[in-house]
Parts: sequence; C-alpha cells; structure tokens
Amino acid sequence: MRKKIVAGNWKMNTTVAEGVALAKAVVERSAEVPEGVDLIVAPPFTHLVSVAEVLKGSKVGLSAQNCANKAKGAYTGEVSVDMLVSAGCGWTILGHSERRQYYGETDALLVEKVRLALDAGLGVILCVGENLDEREAGRHFEVVTEQTKAVLFNFTAEEMAKIVIAYEPVWAIGTGKTATAAQAEEIHECIRKVLAQKFGQAVADDTTILYGGSCKPSNAKELFAQPDIDGGLIGGAALKADDFIGIALSF
Ligand code: PGA
Repeated sequence: MRKKIVAGNWKMNTTVAEGVALAKAVVERSAEVPEGVDLIVAPPFTHLVSVAEVLKGSKVGLSAQNCANKAKGAYTGEVSVDMLVSAGCGWTILGHSERRQYYGETDALLVEKVRLALDAGLGVILCVGENLDEREAGRHFEVVTEQTKAVLFNFTAEEMAKIVIAYEPVWAIGTGKTATAAQAEEIHECIRKVLAQKFGQAVADDTTILYGGSCKPSNAKELFAQPDIDGGLIGGAALKADDFIGIALSF
C-alpha cells in the first residue's frame, strides 16, 4: 500500500525563530493526524538543524527543498546530500518548478541530484508539472510524461520505493488557481501508467503521487478523494500550522 503524505514546502519564508515556532505548532497538532498519513516539513537550509531538534521523537519528517548535484568540494553556496543527512533530513524536494524556471534546472541535472540523494539514503520528492502555455496548447499529458520519464527512467524499481512524485501544475502554484480534482486526477493516473510501463504495476501502485498548487483546507478533501491522489505538497498554506494540519485531516 502506498503512503499518504502531506508535505509543507516553506520555500524562502520565515526566519529561524519563526520556522522553529511553526515546526513546534505543527508537532503539537500532529497528534490529531491519523496513523497512515505522514507529515513532512521542508524549511530553508538555515533552519534544518534547529527544526530537526523540534521534530525529534515526533511523527513529522524533515525535508530539504533542494540539494547540490555534486557530492562535495569547491562548489560555493551549494549544500550536499551528506550535509542534509547530517542536519537530520530524511528527504529532499527536487525539481520544483521554481528551481526549473528561475535557476535553470534541467531533467539531466535532476538525474544527478536524485542519484546523490538516493545514494545518501534520502527520500526524494520529485516535482513535475506543465506551465500555462503548455496546458493551453493541450500538451500537459505530454510534458508531464516526458519529465517523469527523463528523470525517473534512470532509476530502478527498487529505488522507486524511495521516490515520491509531486504533480504541480505551474499555473496553479501560488496563484490561488487550483487544478480541479478531475484535472489533477487525470494527470496522476497518467503518471501512474507511465510508471507501470517501465517498472510494472506493483511499483506504480506503490508510488505516492502528491498534488501541489494552491491546495488548502477547503479544497484538499475533494482532491484527496481521487483514487490516484495520495496527498499534497503544500506551499502557502504550509506556513500556518492550522491550515497545514487542516489539509492533513482532509483524507
Ligand atoms: P502553493 O505552492 O501551495 O503556494 O501553490 C505549492 C508548491 O509550490 O509546492
């Protein structure tokens, strides 16, 4: 059975003190979230060590938002997978559309990052999703299929056990425009079919596929009720513990 996950991507928000307070509030309310729904928070790099302390002994997992595509050495400003593990991370988000769009991350670069993350023992939340032009041109299935293949077809069925996919239509991120449950479901179903072709139906059935893009307590229930939507990658609404937990209570 695949896992249900609600993950909070804090992006470049909060000071360390604010982040610690937010993590504490999430931990406090996490007891309300039923068994079988995993919670993950992804604070900025600077907060990881402090937030890891807060999360210790709780059911809330810790993720980074990115990692370097090199293992170590002279790469000024980069953060390696070993550093993330040593800071207490169990996960990293990779390939978020903001990284692809503003920092030029390509599928080829993401293959390098996923390789390093998996080898270091990190779970990966790999983001895919079409932009507005691609959606309007009717290319959304094609774009998401290509992104999924270009990165994940370099890994094995065993490695897929450590990979979660987040479908995040770029036009829905931070815009208040959520994909309808039907629009999200048909893409999730498509991703699962692509996985089944390469890795077999069992792996496809066991892979958690999250929806992301203006997900909030008021729309999470309908999204999570879809057969192929296994949770959410939450941006804006993850910055308020009540909203984040409200989403996790929507299964
Ligand atoms: P949003 O962001 O919930 O603020 O739309 C989601 C994401 O980018 O992960």
